[in-house]
Amino acid sequence: MKKLSILLLHGPNLNLLGVREPAIYGAMTLRQIDEELQRWASENNVDVTTLQSNHEGALIDAIHEARHWADGILINAGAYTHTSIALRDAIAGVALPTVEVHLSNTAARESFRHHSHIAPVALGTVQGFGWHSYLLGLQGLVARLMNEKR
Ligand code: DQA
Repeated sequence: MKKLSILLLHGPNLNLLGVREPAIYGAMTLRQIDEELQRWASENNVDVTTLQSNHEGALIDAIHEARHWADGILINAGAYTHTSIALRDAIAGVALPTVEVHLSNTAARESFRHHSHIAPVALGTVQGFGWHSYLLGLQGLVARLMNEKR
């Protein structure tokens, strides 16, 4: 069976994981999270390509580019989740199956975090499980992609 290729996108401020508000986001660094996902991916015949950017346009460019090679997208858009119609339009535009993830449970936080522009164009959202949200999101995305291929 063909190896699945996934684009993993981390949005603004996620490069600070480990030092950034650890009571909310946990102690794991972004590199450690990426390593955990790479481990699961290599055990499950999945190829994960990762990009972190603090720039909305760079994230949009990566989404556009992904239509040439990726089977799906896993994204933690950080605060752009709540502000970026452009990111939402990029995901809708490339029409790649996309899963939204968040470390924290945004629904239980400030009201400005309650709305997601990404959720309506995503297959689903996983949030509130710390770094495990990424793993659960990746597993859900891969399960959906494999069902499509069956
Ligand atoms: C976040 C939640 C967002 O509201 C916040 O702006 C982030 C991180 C999360 O993973 O919990 O940067 O996406």
